Amino acid sequence: MSGTDLSRRSALRGAGVVAAAGAVGYVLAANSDAADAAAATTAANGYGPKAAAAPAALAQVADIPDGGGIVLDDADVVLVREPGGTVRGFSATCTHQGCQVSSVADGVISCPCHGSRFSAVDGSVESGPATRPLAKVAVTVRSGAVFQE
Ligand code: FES
Repeated sequence: MSGTDLSRRSALRGAGVVAAAGAVGYVLAANSDAADAAAATTAANGYGPKAAAAPAALAQVADIPDGGGIVLDDADVVLVREPGGTVRGFSATCTHQGCQVSSVADGVISCPCHGSRFSAVDGSVESGPATRPLAKVAVTVRSGAVFQE
């Protein structure tokens, strides 16, 4: 056997060891916690199936004064409750220059910035400077809680 043959055999034997180690590594990796973790994060990164999340309630009906309303700052929604129970939703963004309305009283939703007043029944302008009604927000009541549709 020549020196060249010996070094070629060593190289082949080395390649076999590397190939075997690679196969073992693949099997270990496929069955490791890391492989499971990668599968578990696919929904979180938006590429896998997503679990249905229950929508959060905007408010409890009991939190809305009967015949009045509340302004939900974070949701940017006004909820009004007619005497007797019907709940309606409107955008809390004033159509004049975009301030957030601040209160509901006596059937009127008021904007603090320039004094616009809107109907708590249908969001229409009762007095300006706003000229357009508040946008309606579709809401539904389930089990005493108000949800955005
Ligand atoms: S932004 Fe509401 S009245 Fe001007």
